[in-house]
Amino acid sequence: MSLGGVDLSVTIGKLALRNPVMPASGTFGYGEELADLVDLNGLGAIVVKGTTLNPRMGNPPNRFVEVAGCAFLNYVGLQNVGVRRFIDEKLPYLRRLRTPIIVNIAGEDVEEFKLMTEALSRVDGVSAIEVNLACPNVSGGGLAFSADAQVAFDVVKAVRDATDLTVIAKVSPSLVDVRTLAQVCASAGADAVCPIWSGMGMAIDINTGRSRMGANLRGALGGPGLKPLHLRLAYEAAQAVSIPVIGCGGICGWEDAVEYLLAGASAVQIGSAGLINPQTYTETIDGLGKWAENRGVSRIEEVVGSFRMS
Ligand SMILES: Cc1cc2nc3c(=O)[nH]c(=O)nc-3n(C[C@H](O)[C@H](O)[C@H](O)COP(=O)(O)O)c2cc1C
Repeated sequence: MSLGGVDLSVTIGKLALRNPVMPASGTFGYGEELADLVDLNGLGAIVVKGTTLNPRMGNPPNRFVEVAGCAFLNYVGLQNVGVRRFIDEKLPYLRRLRTPIIVNIAGEDVEEFKLMTEALSRVDGVSAIEVNLACPNVSGGGLAFSADAQVAFDVVKAVRDATDLTVIAKVSPSLVDVRTLAQVCASAGADAVCPIWSGMGMAIDINTGRSRMGANLRGALGGPGLKPLHLRLAYEAAQAVSIPVIGCGGICGWEDAVEYLLAGASAVQIGSAGLINPQTYTETIDGLGKWAENRGVSRIEEVVGSFRMS
């Protein structure tokens, strides 16, 4: 994609993206729901909501609340139709788009990741698998898969061995340093890594004295207030590996996207901000192009990792 003479295309594994901007998993449904609001064919890619082997109802309300004016708690609980219905009911629409489709998968154990990858690799229309290593390893005690470097390796390796599609490892560094996680995923065969901090928060309504997340009590903290933390993760991951890094966390517009690219991310995902304003994706793509043009940058890939300490 060329905007004002700027080539915005980037490469992630086998994926040639027309620009580096995509919605983050779980914040864009299956794409079709947003078709009246967003030019789906103008996006770099579409990451569909977290998909599990079997359908899931998700958590009871409340699942998504704003806290402190610049952050959000979410605890959706991976509500989704399951991989079989995704393939039968959702993929036919997505397949008609010109935009690469990335399917985010969440397994309860290594075997489930493998089974879903095999199923998604047998059908047309899926361009990449995003492996959600932040979800709980149910058979292994409930900690996130990326809480243990060996477990993270095993999952990514199982997915890698099951597919020729591009594999993105979405890791959440809680107990393991982000650089180690990125290296482990790269050595297991991931084509790209997307680091995301998924610390849990809570919020209390001081007028009612009740949990603002209802019976869920907790929720994963995200949104603009968390951007500096996520930017640091993207930077450190990019320093540690030679595979592309996808930046995610707190991106609200083109300025944030530029910052991530400068820090070393090859592409970016927009989550909560897109829920608040669905024009965020288009505005970010347009803004990136204009920023690059004003700077005399002809290819956006030149910007990746070009930041200087002083
Ligand atoms: C409502 C909601 C649902 C989400 N569902 C998923 C999911 O299914 N799989 C996943 O890997 N991440 C999921 N996430 C995390 C986002 O993809 C993203 O990593 C996170 O929100 C940080 O980005 P942000 O600060 O731009 O929101 C979800 C986030 C929100 C807000």
